[in-house]
Amino acid sequence: MKRDFIDLWNLDPEEAWYIVKRTKEIKKGKEDPGRVLEGKNLALIFTKPSTRTRVSFEVAINSLGGNSIFLQEKELQLSRGESAQDTARTLTKYIDGVIVRNHSHTWLEEFAKWSGFPVINALTNKSHPCQVLSDVFTLYERFGEDIKNLKIAYVGDGNNVCNTWLVAGGLFGLDLFVATPESFGPDSYYLQAGLDLSNYTGGNVYLTTNPVEAVRDADVVYTDVWLSMGDDSEDSKREALKDFQVNDKLLSHAKEGVVVMHCLPAKKGEEITPEVFERHSEFIFTQAENRLHTQKALLEFIYGHQ
Ligand code: CP
Ligand code: NVA
Repeated sequence: MKRDFIDLWNLDPEEAWYIVKRTKEIKKGKEDPGRVLEGKNLALIFTKPSTRTRVSFEVAINSLGGNSIFLQEKELQLSRGESAQDTARTLTKYIDGVIVRNHSHTWLEEFAKWSGFPVINALTNKSHPCQVLSDVFTLYERFGEDIKNLKIAYVGDGNNVCNTWLVAGGLFGLDLFVATPESFGPDSYYLQAGLDLSNYTGGNVYLTTNPVEAVRDADVVYTDVWLSMGDDSEDSKREALKDFQVNDKLLSHAKEGVVVMHCLPAKKGEEITPEVFERHSEFIFTQAENRLHTQKALLEFIYGHQ
């Protein structure tokens, strides 16, 4: 059976931990991920810009022996209204997998339903599972098994990355505090998934509108842009988020030695100050590097089981 990766809950906790731990071996070069994609063609359909996700996926596919085909929406008949259903049924005749960055999560689910190959979510309006899987690896690499004893705070917009962190908190059994403004909170469906998974894994997922409460004694503070791709809310949203900026004042409530994470790209001066960003840039760019290693482990997991 094909394995899709549309949301983090497509993995059970054991599988998710397996991928995180496997990423560590792959990154260290201890174990060769092998050429699990030998003879396979994987397409990337991207309707939004990307630096990290696109490049790290293409490099990962090529280093696992596969061939990557980058497709932009405007070059496909999708741009002239061809349906998800017909595009999926056509590509099934040529392709062994598709990695999709698209605005509509519902479109992606429909596309996956009609595809005969694994479909991987490279970001939608609702979730960004490859990013957060990799972020959990970055924390595991730094803190080892202690990751479960860390207080992790997500501060900012209740967007796709925030939704995915809620699920990750539950899936990996983490202690996660999410602070968003009331009017820009996460999707209740993802919050509920995180809470349900926490009951099973022993994690703690907590949502607040108070950024200081989330950051108080935190070991990790994570943020993302206030205006995601395709979000045109502009000024009212910036006003609602102004107390959620990751700056020195907010970080003064965190533990000494707090690490700051950002999935990038950053809008310095909005969700994070330039000073805080630069002080934590080594960790932030390690986070970006780890997208490559995690994607190799994810592809190996999906295709190694076929
Ligand atoms: N973090 C992330 O997904 O970056 P890109 O938009 O550059 O792919
Ligand atoms: N929330 C951001 C993440 C970018 C990687 C966006 O969707 O634009």
